[in-house]
Amino acid sequence: MNKIPLAGVIGSPIAHSKSPDLHGFWLRDYAIKGHYIPIDVPQGELAETLARLARIGFVGANVTIPYKEEALKIADDVSDHAKRIGAANTLVFSPDGKIYADNTDGYGFIENLRQNAPDWDPTSGPALVLGAGGASRAILVALLDAGVPKILLSNRTKERANVLAHEFGPKIEVIDWAPLTHTLPDCAMVVNTTSLGMTGYPALEIAVETLPQTALVTDIVYAPLKTDLLKRAEAHGCTSVDGLGMLLHQAVPGFERWFGKTPDVTDALRAAVLA
Ligand code: ATR
Repeated sequence: MNKIPLAGVIGSPIAHSKSPDLHGFWLRDYAIKGHYIPIDVPQGELAETLARLARIGFVGANVTIPYKEEALKIADDVSDHAKRIGAANTLVFSPDGKIYADNTDGYGFIENLRQNAPDWDPTSGPALVLGAGGASRAILVALLDAGVPKILLSNRTKERANVLAHEFGPKIEVIDWAPLTHTLPDCAMVVNTTSLGMTGYPALEIAVETLPQTALVTDIVYAPLKTDLLKRAEAHGCTSVDGLGMLLHQAVPGFERWFGKTPDVTDALRAAVLA
């Protein structure tokens, strides 16, 4: 058996993933003899690939699109948190080849806010969450667990938001899609989990100027780092937090489990991942 711990990120396509850069930075920074690579897995071959990786010395893997749901089904053991979200992003292989699945996206989301908006109080008022895809699921669970009293959920395709509200309970209220002019004055925070604002997509057109200036605005989009939403929120006087930190923080628990060191999320790491 290979004594050098191996890990990677599984998806398809995977070439664009920043995870190899960020884990690679930590491995070098902490002088750990280990490797982390991108692994492009063809459709239909996930179970076989995971079994083989575990056999040849991999200690675990991250999982991304389109395998987050399938990985959960294949795993032998699933954390309660990943079960609630319905998707896995972090796998740990035990020496006997068993697969444990967890989801650290919500952890990454909250830690990003704690690091970059330390005054944020989740209990201070309602949160507006835009989008009802996979990222939204993890963030809704994280916000509920953090003690947010009420979540207003808005998605272009309202039915998807209704499904999430039904699943995650009465603190979630589905509201109509943008411009949300009447809703924003009551919000303590706004979270964009849609693709809007990402390079190549239109901007998210909501009336940011009607938010209280005490509101926190955050985006899971990190390319560009400062989305139009964040720029407008800042110009209005709100605190804004970009989406890169969520990506960096969600990687911490996996690195810790695989390589035995709790890594720090630093400015040097951010710079390396952006480079
Ligand atoms: P992820 O797993 O990253 O959340 P996803 O499941 O594809 O990805 O979800 C993308 C989100 O962005 C959805 O909320 C989607 O809205 P729909 O459910 O209506 O598709 C939202 N989105 C993407 N493009 C959009 C656009 N042009 N306008 C509004 N919402 C958009």
